[in-house]
Amino acid sequence: MTDKQRTLVLLKPDAVKRHLIGEIIGRYEARGLKVLAMQMRTIDGDLAKAHYAEHIGREYYQGLEDFITSGPLVAMVLEGRKAIQVVRATNGRTDCADAAPGTIRGDFGTQQRRNLVHASDSPESAAREIGLWFPHLLVVDAAAA
Ligand code: CDP
Ligand code: MG
Repeated sequence: MTDKQRTLVLLKPDAVKRHLIGEIIGRYEARGLKVLAMQMRTIDGDLAKAHYAEHIGREYYQGLEDFITSGPLVAMVLEGRKAIQVVRATNGRTDCADAAPGTIRGDFGTQQRRNLVHASDSPESAAREIGLWFPHLLVVDAAAA
């Protein structure tokens, strides 16, 4: 496949609490993405800080860390053609209230922080985030970028 990419996706604690795991994964699979790795876990502040390093210092950071560590989440690596942009588009805009109907955030939420999903935003982010969450996976994006 040309343009094959891997991307890191989180189904955040709100998605798990609301029993939306199957619904959300179903959308990625229906779109044609392959689930390469998947794990449910509750993360601590250290992993939250590493994952969201670029947000540390923002006024919303502590609330974001409290949320992302508040309960189990599902982390996964998805693979497919142009997977990074495809997943970002499938998720919709960050603030669910601004997200288009038909996207995950636009169909299942109204909140800005509790916005159900995370996805890597570039090949560099994908390589870094996959290394953080699934260190055993060979990262292909860095070489392809
Ligand atoms: O997740 P995405 O890349 O779309 O958005 P971001 O701008 O990188 O922000 C990361 C996460 O921080 C968002 O997904 C929200 O959960 C959270 N956030 C927040 O709590 N308050 C804000 N004002 C902005 C973002
Ligand atoms: Mg982001």
